[in-house]
This record gives sequence, structure tokens and C-alpha cells, in this order.
Amino acid sequence: MSEKKKVILDVDTGSDDAIALCAALLCEELDVLGICTVGGNVEVKNTTDNTLRVVECCGRPQVGVYRGAALPLASTLEPWSLQAQELPRKEGGRDQETAVHTDHLPLPPTTLHAQEKSACVFLIETLLAAQDGEITLVPVGPMTNIALAIRADERILPKIRQIVMMGGSHDVYPRTQASEFNVWADPEAVEIVLQSGVPVTMVSLDATSHACLDRHQAALLREIDSAPARLCAELVEHRLKASAAEGDTDGTGVGAAIHDALAVCAVLHPEVLTETVQTSCHVDLGHGYAYGETVLGRNYKFSEMPKNCLYAKSADSGLFFDWLYGVLQAAKRQG
Ligand code: RIB
Ligand code: CA
Repeated sequence: MSEKKKVILDVDTGSDDAIALCAALLCEELDVLGICTVGGNVEVKNTTDNTLRVVECCGRPQVGVYRGAALPLASTLEPWSLQAQELPRKEGGRDQETAVHTDHLPLPPTTLHAQEKSACVFLIETLLAAQDGEITLVPVGPMTNIALAIRADERILPKIRQIVMMGGSHDVYPRTQASEFNVWADPEAVEIVLQSGVPVTMVSLDATSHACLDRHQAALLREIDSAPARLCAELVEHRLKASAAEGDTDGTGVGAAIHDALAVCAVLHPEVLTETVQTSCHVDLGHGYAYGETVLGRNYKFSEMPKNCLYAKSADSGLFFDWLYGVLQAAKRQG
């Protein structure tokens, strides 16, 4: 087997983050150097606790979890902003039966603890100690931690091989009139990353909307009969139920999509992203209707701008599921 890819995950665990974590932690081709947590789907105390629960469920206690930012860089500072009204998503603030992301994952309380150092310090220390181009960052929540690390010490930039992010949207179901949740939560953080010069692959909603799993696939995962596989099956079923509660009747809505795990899959199998375009991409930071929109270079004004992003517009759902199933099944076999 070729050398394992070194990755650092940055998560707001969350139901689809949990599936992404299971896949990354159990995949033989990945070396997860650490996991950073951030506030987003739920409060950072809960995203951190949920992440620890998944690490323990996967039997990987040696992988450090580093608690990160509770709030975005700037988007919640104006009290009238939508972000300020909605972030952090307060514990107990939503119906846990129908919420796509619950405060606590359906796992036993963890016996593990987060590391002492913060996510930002971990990112800087780990990247500075690495060789150039050695580490891939996989953010699947608001990108506050990575933006903070870049601003705190730009010497980390050449160490980053690429950033494969889940976020952004162009044609599919934005979180508001215009933006996808991870970008909407911290637009300034994403723009800092997009201007950093680090190669970015944006696994957008346009792509992840093709990564929906159905009840039959959840049943196949359950049949693997390991704790991580049972967790993934339960979370797929929960997301389908939550998505239906939001009016998605055919299980193809964004709530049914397993967004974050597709980003992990794309690190190893970029061919899973079946339609991509290298383009300029920037985030609208005006505080109007399009705040947080990912604006692709689609007219002459942007054509001269650096093509700073590989934007994914579609994905192969069959390849995605086969990969996820294969990772969980192989891990079960290895015991
Ligand atoms: O828009 C989808 C993204 O928002 C996913 O990362 C999901 O976990 C939520 O964070
Ligand atoms: Ca997420």
C-alpha cells in the first residue's frame, strides 16, 4: 500500500460529520493526525463531546481532539445579523426528534477528553513541524479555526497540501437565499482561506446533493454489524426522518445528503466528483441578501481573477456509497 495521506479534520459534529469521522478514522489509506472542533451545527462543547464519542466508538482513542472556536470571526458581531440570531445553536433549542443535528449523538457518554491545546494552536504547531505540502486539511464545518491559524502564522501555508472543504453552493439549496451553512456561518473565514493561495477543492452542495443515502443503503451498513457501521446506519435513518419532517418526501433533499463524508471520499478518490471546474471563487461579504454566497467566476469581471478553487458541481453517488461501505466492512474484518 502507498503511504497513508496525512489529514487533519475540522468538524462541527453533527450527524453527517459523524459519518465522515467514522470513514476517516477507519480508512486504512488515511493517517488522521488530529481532529479540530468548531461551533456550528451545535455548540462547540457539544461538537467536541460528539466528536469524542465517535472517536471512542471507532476505537481510535489515540487520535487527539482539539476544541476550537465557539463563534465565527465576525458574522455574529452585528446583533441584527441572522447569524447572531441563530449561532451558536443553543443546547435544547431544537426538537431532538426532528433536528438534522442533535445536541448529543446516539452514543454512550465518552470516557475520553479533549486535548489541552486549542484547535488553532494544534493546527499551527502540527503544520509548522511538517514538510512542505505534507498535510491535507478537511474542514466540514465553519472554517473559523483554519482562518485563525492562517492569520496567526502564515508560515503554515506551504505545509498545506490542499484544503478539501465541504461548503459552498451555486445551484442547490443554499442555507439562506444564497449561501450554504458552513460558509454562511463564517463567510469571512472562508474568504481568508480562498485568498490564501492554498489549493482548495470546494465540495459544494451542488455535489453533495448527489450523495444522498436511502433506507436500503442504511440497512446494508447496519448488516456490517460493527459499532461504527450501526452508528452510520442510525444517522442515515435519522437524517432521512429529519429531512422528511422538513418536507423532503423522496429522500433526495439536502437533509438526506451525507455531505461531509463525500469530502473525505474526495481526498482519496477525486474521481467521485464527476463534474468540476477550476475557477475563481470568492465569498460575498456584503451584509445584504447574498452575504455568504460563494460567487464563481462566471462573467468577464472575474475572468482575470486567479482560478483559486476547484469547484465540484456533481458527484457519483454509487462510488461514494461503495467507498463508505467498503471502509466500514474492511474495518469490521480487521476487528
Ligand atoms: O450545508 C451542509 C453542511 O452544514 C454540513 O457540513 C453539515 O454538517 C452542516 O455543518
Ligand atoms: Ca458539518
